[in-house]
Amino acid sequence: MKRVGFVGWRGMVGSVLMDRMRAEDDFALIPEACFFSTSQQGEPGPDVGQGAAPLLDAQDLEALAGMDGIVTCQGGDYTSAVFDDLRARGWFGYWIDAASTLRMRPDSTIVLDPVNLEVIEQALADGKRDFIGGNCTVSLMLMAVGELLRRDLVDWVSAMTYQAASGAGARNMRELLSQMGALEGAAAELLADPRSSILAIDRAVTAAMRAGDFPADAFGVPLAGSLIPWIDKAMETGQSKEEWKGGVETNKILDRGEQPIPIDGTCVRIGSMRCHSQGLTLKLKRAIPVDEVMGMLAEANAWVKVIPNEREQTLAELSPAAVTGDLMIPVGRLRRMAMGPEYLNAFTVGDQLLWGAAEPLRRMLRLLLE
Ligand code: HSE
Repeated sequence: MKRVGFVGWRGMVGSVLMDRMRAEDDFALIPEACFFSTSQQGEPGPDVGQGAAPLLDAQDLEALAGMDGIVTCQGGDYTSAVFDDLRARGWFGYWIDAASTLRMRPDSTIVLDPVNLEVIEQALADGKRDFIGGNCTVSLMLMAVGELLRRDLVDWVSAMTYQAASGAGARNMRELLSQMGALEGAAAELLADPRSSILAIDRAVTAAMRAGDFPADAFGVPLAGSLIPWIDKAMETGQSKEEWKGGVETNKILDRGEQPIPIDGTCVRIGSMRCHSQGLTLKLKRAIPVDEVMGMLAEANAWVKVIPNEREQTLAELSPAAVTGDLMIPVGRLRRMAMGPEYLNAFTVGDQLLWGAAEPLRRMLRLLLE
């Protein structure tokens, strides 16, 4: 590929992608990196070692069609607005996209190369051109325990998620902090007095959370001091769309169209900034000793880190606070469950903006460049 266009490179996911590409020196492999904008065309673009050219118009199909590949983090509305028209005019370039719009289309491949490199290679051999990043929760789960599914050792998975504010957007991250500040502010005087009653503090916090002026424009309800057990739209199955994606995307990533593994659970927004966590129950096809499972997971890819099922290490390493900003995917709490020897418990944490969004796209682009 000679000319690669970038759209949505200034947003949250796009900025993480740019940082990772700079860190890995990916731009050195791109003869001509072209930057598009939906609002600031003509202004100077970023200098990624090739000089700062004026930004191109992200709605200009002719300019887009001049690219050999396009990487977009602009979001689903943008993909819906340009993708079909671009293909309709005969554009054959590679489309690499973070948004969910095209994920489940038959021509699309969901990319997560440490887990499904064979599927990606087959898609390339078949002449496929549309490579889409998976849902963050799905990608993070598969980075952690995908090896067990890949080896066909799993009957079903229940995933209970603890999802960060970043999954809802940059505005939501800011709002989470405003909510935290408002709660602390409501109790500040009482907190400063070591003899004040904890129930009085709790009453002040609850009153603030329920007050009409509590900052909740983005989430609609309190997240700080609370949680939100619904993410995305409602599906007819009774699942939220986030829960539905867990099943359909996992099976598509693993190319298990004919024999899907049932994957379901409850997706919950909690007050972490950018790490999604998941409590998993895996029903194995046979009782596999936990140390064997740990061995399989540890060798599955270079980023997964198996945390022994011990309190100290779990507290130190298996939390959003420990993982934020890191590509490492810790998985721990691995133990047999009371339901029987085939039931495996696991808990995993991952940075939703790295392996959950930017990294699979960066690596797909790199596959096409090398
Ligand atoms: N849908 C995810 C969430 C983020 O709301 O946390 C994007 O995959």
